[in-house]
Amino acid sequence: MTVTHSPFLDALHCRNRGRPPIWIMRQAGRYLPEYQKIRSKYSFLKMCHTPEIAAEVTRLPIDLLGVDAAILFSDILVIPEAMGLGLRFEEGIGPIFDHPLNTPKDLKGLPQLDVKDALHYVANTIRLLLPTLDVPLIGFSGAPFTLASYMIEGQSSRDWKKTKQWMLRDPETFHQLLEHLTTAIIGYLKMQAEAGVAAVQLFDSWANVLGYPQFQEFSLRYLQKITDALSESEIPAIVFCRGSSSFYPDLAQLLVQGISLDWNCDLSQVRQQVPPSIALQGNLDPDILYAPLPVIEREVKLLLKKMKNDPGYIFNLGHGVKPDMSVEAVKCLIKTVQNGLS
Ligand code: CP3
Repeated sequence: MTVTHSPFLDALHCRNRGRPPIWIMRQAGRYLPEYQKIRSKYSFLKMCHTPEIAAEVTRLPIDLLGVDAAILFSDILVIPEAMGLGLRFEEGIGPIFDHPLNTPKDLKGLPQLDVKDALHYVANTIRLLLPTLDVPLIGFSGAPFTLASYMIEGQSSRDWKKTKQWMLRDPETFHQLLEHLTTAIIGYLKMQAEAGVAAVQLFDSWANVLGYPQFQEFSLRYLQKITDALSESEIPAIVFCRGSSSFYPDLAQLLVQGISLDWNCDLSQVRQQVPPSIALQGNLDPDILYAPLPVIEREVKLLLKKMKNDPGYIFNLGHGVKPDMSVEAVKCLIKTVQNGLS
């Protein structure tokens, strides 16, 4: 199927004249009973590695909820997994690396990834999916700082202490790691674009743990290298980071097509500071989905009103939908956006 008209692509290119498009971070996830059913048969990584399953799961929120874009079902941690860190997911804990980077010496063991070989299953998933989709497909990758922090911590962390200690005590080798990841990420996203994704999103989920000068040195600098390379290949990129409410003026200097905002800012105020050629995505507090349906409707309409007639606005949450949120709440959110302000 060829996507001929897409509110998502129109808004991403800041030329949408209709209601804003909506997709939701983590839209193909555990809050969906249909996801749980497939997940009960396979491990999460098996689902990511098997194109037929990953394609089926990617389609779930399109078929069940009617969102305006699909996001590839995968995970940001498949790059470090392919580098040999031994990834597994543990119930109640999340991702765990059996071989994290404990000292700068461990960098020597990191392979230069041939992404087309090591991550070929992702390209295969994209190729399998495209003919079956009538909405654009978004590809993605983790950003260097966020991937580096998982590789050093070995799992999610409360304070990212090991990462920040390494970064501050030995910035040179920390930069080497970021550089190494940057090369792999550029290759990975170009591979996804060649396979047919319409746009890509970079997740720098942990940028918010950095002070401003460290954000510039250890996150932004590498986001710039990646977005420069993508822009040269004319691949539209959206950058998401937690912390974007503070960092968006810097993000707006990048060659990006869109910025995805967390929920701490007033999006209409951000719009006044960001050039109209850059799309804005976000930024409903995900926890609003725990509220009663009339409250969800009210809060969604408030945001719609703030961004009314903005040709470069894409509705999304400020972060991902959580596993214990109700499908009814998500449906209410989507319906309210798609019905527009009446
Ligand atoms: O958005 C989508 O629907 C597309 C698929 C997607 C997943 N993870 C599926 C997933 C995307 C884009 C991601 C990105 C991702 N993964 C990020 C960046 C976005 C963010 O949330 O900040 C991060 C930090 C990860 C790492 C990761 N993967 C964590 C921390 C966890 C466990 C946390 C949790 O929610 O329990 C995962 C697992 C994961 N990734 C699941 C899914 C559907 C749940 C796996 C399961 O079924 O057990």
